Amino acid sequence: MNTSKLLSGLLVSAAMSVAPITAWAESDLMARAKASFAPIPAPTAATGTDKAMINLGKSLYFDPRLSESHNISCNNCHQIGLGGVDMLPTSIGHNWQKGGRNAPTVLNARYNTAQFWDGRAADLKEQAVGPIQNPIEMAISADHAVAMLNGIPGYAPMFAAAFPDEAAPITLANIGSAIAAFETTLVTPDAPFDRYLRGDEGALNDREKKGLALFLDTGCAACHSGVNVGGGMYAPFGVVEKPGADFLPPADKGRFQVTRTTSDEYVFKVPTLRNIELTPPYFHTGKSWDLKQAIGVMATSQLGRELNESQVATIEAFLLTLTGNQPQVTYPILPPSTVDTPRPE
Ligand code: HEC
Ligand code: HEC
Repeated sequence: MNTSKLLSGLLVSAAMSVAPITAWAESDLMARAKASFAPIPAPTAATGTDKAMINLGKSLYFDPRLSESHNISCNNCHQIGLGGVDMLPTSIGHNWQKGGRNAPTVLNARYNTAQFWDGRAADLKEQAVGPIQNPIEMAISADHAVAMLNGIPGYAPMFAAAFPDEAAPITLANIGSAIAAFETTLVTPDAPFDRYLRGDEGALNDREKKGLALFLDTGCAACHSGVNVGGGMYAPFGVVEKPGADFLPPADKGRFQVTRTTSDEYVFKVPTLRNIELTPPYFHTGKSWDLKQAIGVMATSQLGRELNESQVATIEAFLLTLTGNQPQVTYPILPPSTVDTPRPE
């Protein structure tokens, strides 16, 4: 995608739409919101092999033995009870190593067009096998991960139920598919903003509606739109003005590392703003603990706008309406290791 061309178009239209908020009647505001965003669909209950796949994926998601140290599960860095993040600037992985980027939430990740800050994985299946093998995350080789699960007898019937047509279903690809199937259940429907998008005028109060209007009028929705209020496109961090090196350190060139195209330097996936109050610290560096500060940085760096304190607080009030019902996940009882299970290293 030619990001800069798309962006200049978007920014022009954003600039033209800057008008006094009060000019919009409520129903107009709702119509404008419906044109830019969509509610999270109500989850449906899985049955049959889908259900078996989700159950298996849930166990794998919580199983620390999927790491070389037997100490790090997906849930370490994407805690389901913490908005799907670890609340650290950058995560701590194998041997206490720190990665270079903040862990994005797994909640509603299914609605992102691609995964990772630079979009290097096309979907959740492809994404899930990354951290298992990443030397600074879970650090286990593909062969060793498969040997590990083969060495835990309780996993055999679970894989057989999830992949009934396969003779030897314990493979890295199937591990990825099962974890991805579980992740698709990690959605947060029914936020006040979802109820508003479904036509309930009373779901947002006046201040929150003012914040929504300001979010649209300032141009935020040019990038943060769709079901995930983000997650749908890439954009440079620093369209109008480069943020300081604290937020945008020169070494991480973002999507450029994937495409090697100069126009993708410092381009990142526009993150979802759903459940944003639950997922500090912010930005790919995890350097901002203050949502108000993040909103101010966005306005200046992405749109060349200086928002005053009250405008920032009003946008924040809208962003807080994006917190939905958190998934209620029963902690799985994992199959035990035996004398033959490969040992932690
Ligand atoms: C050591 C911490 C750590 C562990 C363990 C870990 N992750 Fe991540 N995860 C991260 C970080 C950091 C990123 C962002 C990396 C990047 O963009 O370059 C990420 C990105 C993701 C994303 C992309 C979300 C988005 O919006 O782009 C998903 C989905 C995800 N991880 C799921 C998983 C799953 C599933 C597992 C277990 C198999 C897992 N993670 C294990 C730290 C971790
Ligand atoms: C030109 C596209 C664009 C526009 C316009 C834009 N953003 Fe962003 N936004 C991004 C990108 C890209 C990031 C990721 C920055 C990074 O690399 O950390 C981001 C990050 C954020 C974050 C941090 C999210 C997180 O999980 O770390 C918040 C909050 C945010 N934007 C709010 C806003 C608000 C409010 C506005 C309007 C004032 C706005 N954005 C306008 C593209 C945009």
